[in-house]
Amino acid sequence: MYDNVFVMDHPLIQHKLSILRDEKTDSKQFRELISEIAMLMAYESTRDLPLKEVETKTPIAVTKTKVLDGKKMAIVPILRAGLGMVDGLLNLVPAARVGHIGMYRDPKTHKPVDYYCKLPKDLGERDVFVLDPMLATGGSAVDAVTRIKEFNPKRIKFMCIIAAPEGLEAFTKVHPDVPVYCAGLDERLNENCYIVPGLGDAGDRIFGTK
Ligand code: PRP
Ligand code: URA
Repeated sequence: MYDNVFVMDHPLIQHKLSILRDEKTDSKQFRELISEIAMLMAYESTRDLPLKEVETKTPIAVTKTKVLDGKKMAIVPILRAGLGMVDGLLNLVPAARVGHIGMYRDPKTHKPVDYYCKLPKDLGERDVFVLDPMLATGGSAVDAVTRIKEFNPKRIKFMCIIAAPEGLEAFTKVHPDVPVYCAGLDERLNENCYIVPGLGDAGDRIFGTK
């Protein structure tokens, strides 16, 4: 339906997403699930990381093996809610660098307001995974990726848990070169620009602030 958008329909991801959406799921379990889903999504979305051949001496013989080529990737969560996905990726790629971009949606205009940006200096030599559980209007993701592109990274991927069609439309229009990975593609946004059916406010559910 959209070019460069991948909905991850693995049964484990879909099972966990179902529990994540449930309003009865508490903050502790919500945090655990976000992290687990992010890890499973990372496994799928890192399939095309480049490899190089090295020589390895096993206890039996010397052989050719494969290891990741180049510098390890960078992970950039969009604060706050993107923080919930970081551990999941670090479980798989512990040497990844972590940058942070702080953004919140203005409650009236729903436009992103950025308040923080700290990124690894050598981003130009890395693949970057941008993390945010929710792609609603797409404003936050569009602005975050625009900011990251100023550093000319090798490649950028955007990973969210739930995407709205409006957000995908907006994001893929501005950044057609950036693949989007999501676990669920929902119906629409409501009048407050929340995703329907969605899971509510991801940041509040992760940090228990409501
Ligand atoms: C949420 C979410 C995204 C943004 C998505 O953050 O984590 O960053 O909204 O909406 P958009 O696609 O319409 O821009 P929020 O502004 O609630 O901040 P928080 O993570 O600090 O709670
Ligand atoms: N941010 C959220 O946390 N949830 C939504 O549904 C939309 C934006």
